[in-house]
Amino acid sequence: MKMGRRKAISIIGGGVIVGATVLFLGSRRPAKALAPWQQAGTYAEPRRRALSYAILAPNPHNRQPWQVDLAQEDKIILYVDTDRLLPHTDPFSRQITIGLGCFLEQLRIAAAQDGYLTTITAFPQGYDKNQLDKRPVADISFVRDKTIKKDPLFPHILTRRSMKVPFDTERLVPDDLLQDLHHIVQNNTHAEATNKPETIRRLRQLTHEAMAIELKTPRTYKESVDLFRIGKSEINENPDGISLGGPLMDSLSAIGLLTRETALDTESSAYQQGMNMLMANIDTAMGYIWLTTATNSRIDQLNVGRDWARINLAATSRGIGLHPISQALQEYPEMQENFSQIHDVLDAKETRVQMLGRLGYAAPVPPAPRWPLDAKIIKA
Ligand SMILES: Cc1cc2nc3c(=O)[nH]c(=O)nc-3n(C[C@H](O)[C@H](O)[C@H](O)COP(=O)(O)O)c2cc1C
Repeated sequence: MKMGRRKAISIIGGGVIVGATVLFLGSRRPAKALAPWQQAGTYAEPRRRALSYAILAPNPHNRQPWQVDLAQEDKIILYVDTDRLLPHTDPFSRQITIGLGCFLEQLRIAAAQDGYLTTITAFPQGYDKNQLDKRPVADISFVRDKTIKKDPLFPHILTRRSMKVPFDTERLVPDDLLQDLHHIVQNNTHAEATNKPETIRRLRQLTHEAMAIELKTPRTYKESVDLFRIGKSEINENPDGISLGGPLMDSLSAIGLLTRETALDTESSAYQQGMNMLMANIDTAMGYIWLTTATNSRIDQLNVGRDWARINLAATSRGIGLHPISQALQEYPEMQENFSQIHDVLDAKETRVQMLGRLGYAAPVPPAPRWPLDAKIIKA
């Protein structure tokens, strides 16, 4: 069944997408982009087997900036791909470094599951605190160790998600769950969590405002739009960035309503609907968890990533959704006031809030695309 452009537009205008659109396009699952989730654990070589889980780690804008050198036996050298940074929203690559920390923690957990000890030396040749460069991010020795303990978080790597959907506002986040989550950190970071209605109200408001700033600041908004992967074939070709998939997005794209150009036009319905979807997530937070560090070194940032991955996996194990919302924590001039206010509300004036996530309940969501492991091995 084919639908005329005018009819499709009127349906979208009314805010209802009917089953006909779904029939029109059929199954739009980007199978190639999701294959790494099936390939995890299928490699014979132990470092590759652990790495096949590490590449499923959360990371900002799904840039997957990791690269590994496997040339030396019993070792993995981790580098950052400096073509995959986010200079506008993450000018010092603080968040990119956090994502690399998430990668290291999932690597460690997966290696331990197989009886391998990973000893991680971070930034063995030093680092620049203002920008990441070509020096190694970590030197990881990878050796068999029969005494190593398995991490109970391992089974949750394949079902972990960043839950970018509205939460059920009828379902409260229980106190004991907040306690469990905030005790899971083990890498010199400090976790706090809340389900207090008054704090939730204030944080919803601040994170909403921060999102509006990002969307209304042309260069920060464009940084996201440039990373849109619209529809199945774009997602399969570039399994990273911000994937806008599924029958609805494919339909809007097929009739020309959703393109990078229409998304950039702040008068368009694509822009308005995109903004509405993002705000619907932010406005339904039912609790929050955040990580702070006393200082803000690259080592702190890697540690934050390691603990964020742990929190995300622990949340998955307890059936609750976790969604990072980072806008108010970003270091560009237009965000400065909001940055300061959020540190105030979180009672973290003397420390640095490194990650903030909203908590709540929602139906399961599909995994996010990944580049295959082979694309990330720079020396075998
Ligand atoms: C440091 C960091 C910051 C992030 N900030 C956001 C954010 O502000 N908004 C968002 O929707 N997702 C955010 N994410 C989640 C990523 O977008 C997500 O990990 C990525 O798209 C891959 O999806 P997955 O975690 O479901 O595998 C962040 C992740 C990290 C590690």
